[in-house]
Amino acid sequence: MLSVKEFKLSMFSNHYYRFINDFAKTDYESNKLLGKFYTDYNVADEMIERVVESITFLEENKTVSIIDPFCGDGRLIISLLKKIDSMNICKKIHIVIWDVDNTAIQQAKKSIEIFLKQTTLEYDLSAELTDAFVAYFDEVGKFDICVTNPPWGLLKPQKLFNTRCSEDKLNEYRNSIAMYDDYMKQEFSVSLPTSKFGKWGTNIGRCGLEVALRLIAPNGVCGFVSPASLFNDQVSLTFRKWIFENYNINSIAYFPAELKLYGSADVSSITAVVKVGTTQDLLVKVYDSEFNFTKRIFDNQEIQVIEDNDYSIPLEFGVEAMKLETQLKKCITLEEYCKHRNLAFVRELDETRVAEKLTDNGNIVFAKGYMVDRYSFSSEKLYLNESIVQPPKSVEFHKLVWRDVSRNSQQRRIKATIINPKCIAGNSLGAIYSTVDDLNELKILLAIINSYVFEFQARRKLVSNHVPVGILKKVKVPNAIQDDKLIQIVTSCLNGKECQAVLEVKIAKLYGIDYDEYFEILKFFSISPQEIEELKTTWKSTN
Ligand SMILES: C[S@@+](CC[C@H](N)C(=O)[O-])C[C@H]1O[C@@H](n2cnc3c(N)ncnc32)[C@H](O)[C@@H]1O
Repeated sequence: MLSVKEFKLSMFSNHYYRFINDFAKTDYESNKLLGKFYTDYNVADEMIERVVESITFLEENKTVSIIDPFCGDGRLIISLLKKIDSMNICKKIHIVIWDVDNTAIQQAKKSIEIFLKQTTLEYDLSAELTDAFVAYFDEVGKFDICVTNPPWGLLKPQKLFNTRCSEDKLNEYRNSIAMYDDYMKQEFSVSLPTSKFGKWGTNIGRCGLEVALRLIAPNGVCGFVSPASLFNDQVSLTFRKWIFENYNINSIAYFPAELKLYGSADVSSITAVVKVGTTQDLLVKVYDSEFNFTKRIFDNQEIQVIEDNDYSIPLEFGVEAMKLETQLKKCITLEEYCKHRNLAFVRELDETRVAEKLTDNGNIVFAKGYMVDRYSFSSEKLYLNESIVQPPKSVEFHKLVWRDVSRNSQQRRIKATIINPKCIAGNSLGAIYSTVDDLNELKILLAIINSYVFEFQARRKLVSNHVPVGILKKVKVPNAIQDDKLIQIVTSCLNGKECQAVLEVKIAKLYGIDYDEYFEILKFFSISPQEIEELKTTWKSTN
């Protein structure tokens, strides 16, 4: 009779991996399909250092059990063994490695044995060609140390096979992946995406982390590598909540994409060291593109701020961003701000086949993303064809609009202005109007939305080339009162006068940020020394 593991392997897993094995023609294809992004050796050693520092199970004569369920060439285990050996942590060691790639597992086994023969460690080594997503079940809670870097990617049928396989074969392949996907969704519920577009979306990396964490014993420790998006994207929220609530995250190190640690893949990554328990103090190390780092320990109060922010950590923006989050705790979200001030978010015109909805003359001017810049709007003399589209009532009001499309590489991602009544905003613009047509209210909000402090917060939440309203609604804003001077300066800016520096400074002060914090934030933008000087002078002369 088959064991549960053998049954699951034969039902859900073997077919899928057999296809991958048979279909992939080159290393590139096999690497892509198996999510192989081997860990950089320096990154591995740094993580292992922190793993070993957090060991608490040092009974004498204990056989220490260690595992890498996605071992690749075994480099993480070798780095760990080197550390264990050099620090004389134990005398006996039980090592388990798994991978679905036969060449990799053989290589890992050989390299580990070569290393161990140079030491006095007593060991037994089990190297198994198996699917960790199935095999883990029999080993839950058995390991003192798990170190791993799970495969990166989404489970979905790969187009590259379409031209090279018969329709029958492709159908078999799609069925096998669908079966495997159903299994993964059932088995790894906390790794399911918080929101999902289309049928596919199982992130095997997150499932792999769930495997790794479940393998450790109650006083064990896990060190893992992952794309950095784990700690701030919208789809990993359930996973983050789970890890924060059930584990003690001891430390995280962040490595920016510019370090080019994964060949052609332009991706930032993290390593984390985690134990069972709850997070008390969290050490965060942020590396720069020169491999220098800054570090900071977050206390309970700051961890609370992380939890309030969907458990996301603004690693890209460095540890300073965390200090700012704590400072901004007193502020309200843009959504709350608008609710209390008769300001409503609106979508006016779907731009699908927009040419059919427009004419060369008419009463209502069409406004589109590229026509908008910071404090300016240049129309293209395009008008709504009212015989085809009935305009919404918000068209009769002033509107605050911002460009929906913007890239991370742009110096300012938020480009907002105010457009007049009798303008209609296409959906390449986000829009807010005052339901009581209070233009002054919109002007104050415009200064806030266009400010560096607002953009600094928004940037760390934006994960695509869009500036969606759902994200901006969560950004914190100051509870500003109507200030005639501020309104007057916004009016001047809208009239083309160069006075953005005063607005920037006034808004920063409304946020309650001090001089040092403000200029710390500005370091994350590529601002010319002249502009910095101007802001410094303005800060000193502005109330
Ligand atoms: C990101 S690489 C990491 C390898 C190595 N641990 C390191 O840190 O460099 C992921 C590894 O997982 C393996 N893998 C992919 N799917 C797997 C599965 N279902 N079970 C076990 N290993 C798997 C790949 O073959 C690859 O070697």
